[in-house]
Formats: sequence, structure tokens, C-alpha cells
Amino acid sequence: MIDLPPKLDLAQIPTPLQLLNRVSKELGVNIWVKRDDLTGSVLSGNKVRKLEFSLAQALREGCDHIITCGGLQSNHCRATALLGAQLGLSVTLVLRGHAEEVADGNFLLDRLSGATIKTFAPRDYTQNLTSILEAEANAVSEQGGKAFVIPTGASDGVGIWGYVAAAKEMQEDFNRHRILPSHVVMATGSGGTQAGLSLGAHLLGWETQILGMAVCDDENYFLRKVREDIDECTQRYGLTTNSEDVSVSVNDRYVGPGYAQADDEVFEMIAKLASTEGIVLDPVYTGKAFYGLVSEIKSGRLTGVRDVVFVHTGGVFGNFPFKQRFA
Ligand SMILES: Cc1ncc(COP(=O)(O)O)c(C=O)c1O
Repeated sequence: MIDLPPKLDLAQIPTPLQLLNRVSKELGVNIWVKRDDLTGSVLSGNKVRKLEFSLAQALREGCDHIITCGGLQSNHCRATALLGAQLGLSVTLVLRGHAEEVADGNFLLDRLSGATIKTFAPRDYTQNLTSILEAEANAVSEQGGKAFVIPTGASDGVGIWGYVAAAKEMQEDFNRHRILPSHVVMATGSGGTQAGLSLGAHLLGWETQILGMAVCDDENYFLRKVREDIDECTQRYGLTTNSEDVSVSVNDRYVGPGYAQADDEVFEMIAKLASTEGIVLDPVYTGKAFYGLVSEIKSGRLTGVRDVVFVHTGGVFGNFPFKQRFA
């Protein structure tokens, strides 16, 4: 039994669990995809599950303004901006990068949402993010509002409930399909999806390995970050779980050139999956992670493989700014 904290109903869930027939045949392993790219049309992806809890907390605290941050093409910022519009909350996005002259992908949708957008040069953003967010929150207070700051990717002790809840949903998928997956694999960018699934798997007593494929940063960084999120959650909500007892696995072999930079193989994988299974990944998160998963299976490095579940965490809009790479 897992008692979830109160949440808003914002995501189109449960999402389907779909078997990839042709890829499974090719690899000789059943590959299932948890279709979290279908959690909403413009709210698509993993973020809306986390934001159901983060925004519920914001409303409980009487906030009328949401501030959050991420890269210029952040899926999380796009989902937050549009949910803010849906809920009648003001939103400020603090974005890393230079505003595109012609807005594309998520940044275009941010613009349409009516959110206040502030862009910062990457170095300034990285060095001063905490003080930038504080200054934005103070500016809201000075105007008589109350701001709620959601950290990068809503990956904290509140947001990770989204994927604890998703683990519960997946338990029902597994029962329905009569499978006991050996691995559940996902892209790890700020760590919250993995933290939630790892905590959920622990609380549900799964023997399944929850494996995060890093898309930026290295294994040690994410081992620490995922445990930090779990610790924050257990302390805040008074759970008796010790994060050291939660199994956390990260593979950082497929980060490639860096965050939001991918090798040709990733673009080829995106095109292949779209044409063979009708599923569209993205070059920043899911394409890298899925390419990594297939490579690990083919090389025999992933051991004890039975049924494997890949969590499709969305990101479709992230393809458009890379249109040249598909040429
Ligand atoms: C499409 C997509 N997939 C995966 C991730 C990674 O999830 P997390 O930030 O929870 O590690 C993100 C965000 O960072 C994302 O936007």
C-alpha cells in the first residue's frame, strides 16, 4: 500500500503499455513501451505527472505565481507554462540560452502560453540560478503576489511522487499483461523520474532493475541526485524508507557529446523507431536512452533480460529545432 499525497488531476492517465513487435523480434527480447508521451497533447511527457503534485502543493500554500527553470527547449518549462495557463496561475520561466529569433519547438509553445520568459546566458544561468530564482520570487512578492518555485524538471521530494504513482499504475499494467519485467529503463536528465520509479519499485517490492540512462552528467552525479530526491521525499512526508535501501542504477555510457547534443546514431534510431513502430522519440532524452538500451542489449552487457519496459517520457517538440540533423 502506498499512500500518495493530494494531487491535481492534470494528466491523461493511465497511459498504455505497448509491446514493440518488430523491435522485440529483432532483439529477441520483449520490449514494452510505457507511453507517457501520451499524457496530454501539449502537456505530453513525464513532467505533467510530477506537476500534478508540485502544483497541488503550490495551491495548498496559497501561491498564485509559478516560477521554474530549464534549458531554452525545456519540456518541463513548456508543460509548466501551459498548466499555469490552464489553472489561471501566472508563470515565469527562467531559461538557459539565448532567445531564438524565430521561436521553435517548446520555446514557441512557451511563448504561446503567455508566460513571462527571461533568458540568461548559459554561464550566468549556471553560476547564479539560485539567486536569479530568489530575485524573481521577491519581485512577485513586491507586487503583492505569492510565488512557488519549482526546481529543474520538478525533480524534488514533491515532484517525484508523480513517478511513485506511475509505478503503481505500471504494477496494474504488469498484472494485466502477466509480465514481471527484468528492467524498467528511462532517460535521466534531472533525476526525478528515476527517483520516483526507484522509490515506487522499492515500496511495491519489485525485483525489477530501474535503470536510468543519463543524458547529461555522469553516473556518480545521478546516484547522488536520485538519493537526495528520495531522502527529501521520505523526510518531508515521514516515510520510514531509508534511501540507502532503495536500489539505484545509472548508465552514463550514452551521454554522447553532452546535454542536447547527440550523435548520428541517435537520429537514426529516432527515424527507425518512427518507421517501424510509429513511435517518435526525441534527440535530447528518449532517443539517447532508447539507443543506449538497444546497444546494451545487443552487446550482451544488460544481463538477466526478460521483459524490458522503456518509459517513453515524451519530448516530441524537441525534434523540431534539430530538423537539419534529420536531413
Ligand atoms: C522528454 C524527457 N524525457 C526525460 C526527461 C528526464 O526526466 P528527469 O528530469 O525526471 O530525469 C526529461 C526532462 O528532463 C524530458 O523532458
